[in-house]
Amino acid sequence: MESAVIQRQYDDVIATQYDHDPQNTTGDSLDSALDHLAAAGLLSDVLPVMRVLDIGMGTGMFLAKLRERSQRAIEPYGIDISRQMVAIAQRKIPDLVAAIDDGANLEHHFQGEQFELIATHFVTGFVPMTHLAPRIHSKLAADGVWSFVGGTTAGYRELRRRAGHPVLRLLFGGRVPDLQDVICPGSEREVVTVLEQTGFEVLQAKTLEPKLSFPDFDSFMEFAYHGGWLTPFIEEIGLHRSRRWQQTILNRLVFPVVDHHNIVLALARRRP
Ligand SMILES: C[S@@+](CC[C@H](N)C(=O)[O-])C[C@H]1O[C@@H](n2cnc3c(N)ncnc32)[C@H](O)[C@@H]1O
Repeated sequence: MESAVIQRQYDDVIATQYDHDPQNTTGDSLDSALDHLAAAGLLSDVLPVMRVLDIGMGTGMFLAKLRERSQRAIEPYGIDISRQMVAIAQRKIPDLVAAIDDGANLEHHFQGEQFELIATHFVTGFVPMTHLAPRIHSKLAADGVWSFVGGTTAGYRELRRRAGHPVLRLLFGGRVPDLQDVICPGSEREVVTVLEQTGFEVLQAKTLEPKLSFPDFDSFMEFAYHGGWLTPFIEEIGLHRSRRWQQTILNRLVFPVVDHHNIVLALARRRP
């Protein structure tokens, strides 16, 4: 998916809705990532200030939560491709040092800075983890850690099954793109392998399977389109422009849906 398309979707469709976090999928996952940091003893006030870089920090949800939860002082930095998402983050976190750019260009930002913590949360579907890994490694201080959170291709099993319905294909131009185009990596194992191969020691790894309930089309769109979870997929099939009668058919054939996402969390320490 082109970065310009993703940027427009976050600027124009998602930014104002993002913090509603329907079903609390984002908030709960970020809380679990904070649990890992706390369990590793990294939020204690006996430690010196923690410089934190959040790649694809969005509306600053993680940095705000981190500051609330940590007894240790935080110096927040972030990079994100969406000007609107960054503007919201800056309102919440006035001392945030932010860059607006593609995270793939990480090496051109914050030059000379070293971080005790770098976060990539729900961004590796846009910038591959394998591209980021060596760049994160070189920006981490000795003993610095990478907090990884990402949805995997094992998520949305039920939605994927229903997306194959022949009537859906008829309604939306004969082709339903693969949901897997907008989520990755593949599994916890894949995440751990990339981390180990690029010079990290994995301290914690875990897979969450949060339940998702979509009673009808509108609740699905709130989560998947305005919430950002499947926005590229939805625009590709034109679901955001569907007519009332098409939505009625969808409400008969597809919804209600109860499904699960599949989200990998990992905390990894930079090896020297
Ligand atoms: C699903 S949101 C996650 C936001 C935040 N990390 C969180 O957990 O709430 C994805 C974020 O990545 C940003 N993004 C998408 N593609 C990007 C890219 N190539 N470089 C930097 N940021 C990107 C989006 O603008 C959006 O803010």
